[in-house]
Amino acid sequence: MADREVSTPVRQRDIALMSRAIELAARGPLGDPNPRVGAVIVDLRGLVVGEGFHQGAGTPHAEVMALSQAGPAARGGTAVVTLEPCAHTGRTGPCAQALIKAGVARVVFAQADPTPTAGGGGAMLEAAGIRTTSGVLTQDSVALNEAWAFSFAAGRPRVTWKYAATLDGRSAAADGSSRWITGPQARADVHRLRAQCGAILVGTGTVIRDDPALTVRGPDGSAVGRQPLRVVMGLRPLPETARVLDGAVPALHLRTRDPAQVLKALADRQIRHVWLEGGPTVAAAFLGAGLVDEVIAYLAPALLGAGAPAVGGLGIHGIDQALRLTPHEVTTIGPDIRIRASIATAIITIPTAAACATATTSTSNTTREGR
Ligand SMILES: NC(=O)c1ccc[n+]([C@@H]2O[C@H](COP(=O)([O-])OP(=O)(O)OC[C@H]3O[C@@H](n4cnc5c(N)ncnc54)[C@H](OP(=O)(O)O)[C@@H]3O)[C@@H](O)[C@H]2O)c1
Repeated sequence: MADREVSTPVRQRDIALMSRAIELAARGPLGDPNPRVGAVIVDLRGLVVGEGFHQGAGTPHAEVMALSQAGPAARGGTAVVTLEPCAHTGRTGPCAQALIKAGVARVVFAQADPTPTAGGGGAMLEAAGIRTTSGVLTQDSVALNEAWAFSFAAGRPRVTWKYAATLDGRSAAADGSSRWITGPQARADVHRLRAQCGAILVGTGTVIRDDPALTVRGPDGSAVGRQPLRVVMGLRPLPETARVLDGAVPALHLRTRDPAQVLKALADRQIRHVWLEGGPTVAAAFLGAGLVDEVIAYLAPALLGAGAPAVGGLGIHGIDQALRLTPHEVTTIGPDIRIRASIATAIITIPTAAACATATTSTSNTTREGR
């Protein structure tokens, strides 16, 4: 049965425990096929007896980790989870079932599971007589997994186009050289953000010209941590000696020039967020197809006067046709400037963190009935 009302002290306790669950969830990997989820179990007395977070596809879900820590103390207690417990059997069993088996009396979650296969866990819990409360710190929970939620709403991975350019918009010099436009701090920042995506994508032109490794590397140049899939698109064969084919990290050459086909192939591989690194031809193809959601530009205070532009032709002739972006962050990184800007894609209707600020107020302390 769903909670009809929750008293203020219980509500405040739910919020405190959900904050902790969100903190735990944030320890999970970004760029994974699965969302970041955190869970806290309190016993009958309200004492925390188990904590967990999801560490990536194929590993135990947050609830299962927390339940195994709690053991029999979970019986009659409350589970506080950032995402509605799943109802399906994937690589692991349904979490809703595990909570029922453990005998918890109440489950609190921040947001409903939007996925067609895993959703419905709340209803499963209620059918088993477990009280549920949703809508606690929804905004913070949504912010944990924006690319993941986007990919389900849009039916394709989220695309971030990153480029480095001089102040006059050149992404390479007239002789083709482009190393390095920005300083070491900006390049370190790129590696940090690369690690948060599921795939790094370039065109054959960049591989043939620059021979990039497309890995996430530390300051000493060695590969570190989670490595996104390396993806090259374009019809030409890649040189056998290309670093992207060195086997150190999985790589994929998609022999197509169609951005939508590339995103479909990546969605089929459960990639939720693509880090598009160009070059200018491929960037223009994605922009032209309306398949770029965010732009991250690293601008160096340097001028070249000639050389490749940051982006190829977009078929724009008049200033009134300019593709206008919405900047949401301007940061100085060493001597360079990083600008983050979004491009409105009309198809997307997922709740953004900002939109949920309002939603949380109205759904706070409510039951699942309103879903
Ligand atoms: N500063 C930066 O951030 C940055 C980043 C990347 C690259 N770059 C620079 O960019 C230069 C390379 O430029 P680029 O434009 O050749 O690189 P690119 O965009 O990586 O590759 C272009 C190639 O990709 C293939 N391709 C894939 N989809 C396509 C489509 N929809 N339309 C047309 N072609 C498509 C084509 O080759 P096929 O014939 O094989 O199909 C095309 O020649 C290098 O000098 C590199 O240094 C700069």
